[in-house]
Amino acid sequence: MVPQSNTHPKTRTRLTDLLGIEHPILCGGLMHLADANYVAAVVNAGAMGFISALTFPDPQQLRNEIQKCRDLSGGKSFGINLYISPRQDANDRLEKLLTVVQDEKIAVVETAGGNPGPIIPLMKEAGIKVIHKVPAVRFALSAERAGVDAVSLVGAECGGHPGYMMVGSMVQAADAPQKLSVPVILGGGIGHGSQLTAALAMGCDGILMGTRMLVSSELQAHKDYKQRVIEGTGLDSIVVQSTLKNHHRVLDNQTAQAILALENEGKESYEDYAHLLNGKLSKEAYASGKTDQGLLDYGQSACFANAIEPVATILTRFIQESLIAKERLSGMNTL
Ligand SMILES: Cc1cc2nc3c(=O)[nH]c(=O)nc-3n(C[C@H](O)[C@H](O)[C@H](O)COP(=O)(O)O)c2cc1C
Repeated sequence: MVPQSNTHPKTRTRLTDLLGIEHPILCGGLMHLADANYVAAVVNAGAMGFISALTFPDPQQLRNEIQKCRDLSGGKSFGINLYISPRQDANDRLEKLLTVVQDEKIAVVETAGGNPGPIIPLMKEAGIKVIHKVPAVRFALSAERAGVDAVSLVGAECGGHPGYMMVGSMVQAADAPQKLSVPVILGGGIGHGSQLTAALAMGCDGILMGTRMLVSSELQAHKDYKQRVIEGTGLDSIVVQSTLKNHHRVLDNQTAQAILALENEGKESYEDYAHLLNGKLSKEAYASGKTDQGLLDYGQSACFANAIEPVATILTRFIQESLIAKERLSGMNTL
């Protein structure tokens, strides 16, 4: 039997305890997309969401967005995504935003990209939890030593940065919990609730989604963009920038093909690619719905995104699917 949305039992894990959330589900930062509207919808549905700080590069803009999210979520806790770039110029912007995160006493940050070590003391001082996102267990072990509160491991299937080692989610899910003491969250290719049950069975404390949520009604993107995600199978994602050792899973479009062409020509310097990596193109694509241009993070779990729906509907169904999978397992007889 499928439980009703307001009656389904809550699954308690170290992640739900750490963040004080109802469901062991994180909806990760989405550059240009994860704003107050979307993140408030996620936390109102009992999961944890993250406003992407770099989407609001002016500190006052970020403060306004945080206030808006507080208003929309009735003061519930929410998070901020801090992408630490390997490029120093991008991190200069990040430093100003860090001050905002500290002043505003945000509950939790999702860090990704570079080493979070240098910012951990600042976050701890402000009582902010740190979840660091990595593409392989060896980076998770370094993050644990640096003092993070939890780690998210993303597999090769993920939208965005799967890491140059391209380890699959199934391997990460069983491997990471055996090697780490902090809570482990599994991401990469997740969009069906049965995967939450599987991740918990393998020792993880929760899951993380990005691509599956791109069709949320609350997401500020053109309906033609969401329609493209619905039509997508995930097989239309490709990995570019492997030449720069910055593997990036995106929607296969003209920009992605132009990057691949340069890679095939053997171009190795960032400058050769800069005009195509420019975030302006992606921002325009989300706003106009013209998805042939821009480097648009997009992963294999697009196969689960079949309709534009409110976040609460997507997550309620996801939890129901996870409970059905749990019942399926408990109903299996041993021989
Ligand atoms: C459109 C899009 C934008 C993203 N932007 C960011 C970002 O700014 N910072 C970040 O840490 N991760 C970003 N990610 C990665 C997600 O937070 C998450 O780790 C990933 O989507 C999980 O894998 P999945 O796409 O298979 O669900 C983005 C992903 C997508 C699909």
